[in-house]
Amino acid sequence: MSKPKILVARAVFPEVIARLEAHFEVESNPSDETWSKAELIARLQGKEGAFTTGGDRIDAEVLAACPQLRICANMAVGYNNFDIAAMTAAGVLATNAPDVLTETTADFGFALLMATARRITESEHYLRAGKWTKWSYDMFAGSDIHGATLGILGMGRIGQGIARRGAHGFGMKVIYHNRSRLDAALEAECKAGYVGKDELLKTADHLVLVLPYSPESHHTIGAAELALMKPTATLVNIARGGIVDDAALAAALRNKTIAAAGLDVFEGEPTLHPELLMVPNVVLTPHIASATIPARLAMARLAADNLIGFFKENKPLTPLNPAVLAIK
Ligand code: GLV
Repeated sequence: MSKPKILVARAVFPEVIARLEAHFEVESNPSDETWSKAELIARLQGKEGAFTTGGDRIDAEVLAACPQLRICANMAVGYNNFDIAAMTAAGVLATNAPDVLTETTADFGFALLMATARRITESEHYLRAGKWTKWSYDMFAGSDIHGATLGILGMGRIGQGIARRGAHGFGMKVIYHNRSRLDAALEAECKAGYVGKDELLKTADHLVLVLPYSPESHHTIGAAELALMKPTATLVNIARGGIVDDAALAAALRNKTIAAAGLDVFEGEPTLHPELLMVPNVVLTPHIASATIPARLAMARLAADNLIGFFKENKPLTPLNPAVLAIK
């Protein structure tokens, strides 16, 4: 029996490609070029499955042009690159890669928070530029983490991981806002109290964003929300570009209406709003929150296992639109 044909849209671990090759006829992208939509459509011709990453947009146009496609397995927990409604309407299964990156990403959220609040990269740049000539009492004074109020917007698994680190590791008071409130046992375990969004913005000393991107969450943090925050506050975004209005944030950082920001994700990434590169009080990282080898390998293996499970037994591990599985 011939093997189903799949496309692996970006470069990925050789061992994962080898695993896929045991089950599929694989076209891969070892040079890791970023394909245009036209190129992606051309390469998807005749393919029944796709291994995608967050930069590969699967929308109605792609689906209409690729009628053989049956599944797209994302090597990411976020899936705003998928038009799930269009995929469901076309009978194409979508899967993501949750859980395996939760603790790694929560570690990074905390690292970015600490680097931002304690001005680590800003002071390192100063030192490397040869500007450090003497100690002074307020040089690069930042804000404390321990004992401060940690606000979390988006209290899914990663948000909960950040809450636990803050409450149990650093003695922070944790408050959060989410579409739905956690049950009492989980709130107690995370030592986190539910508050309204405005109260979160007004009260947090450090605010971490971990909510999923959707048209509804576009610019959840804009000029009005930034104006509610304390002038001493730090803002950390490890969620998705587009959740923050980057132009409004750059203005708030320039005018010091908030103290600092730590950003791993950006509107229009990998291009950044130019003003973010000009302001000193921001720590910028290139979308690396889940970037440890064990986490990335687990994400890639899960995406591969979703493809294998789907074609073998109609049993993907982490389906996003499982209704598609019933239509066979
Ligand atoms: C990374 O951003 C992910 O969604 O996994």
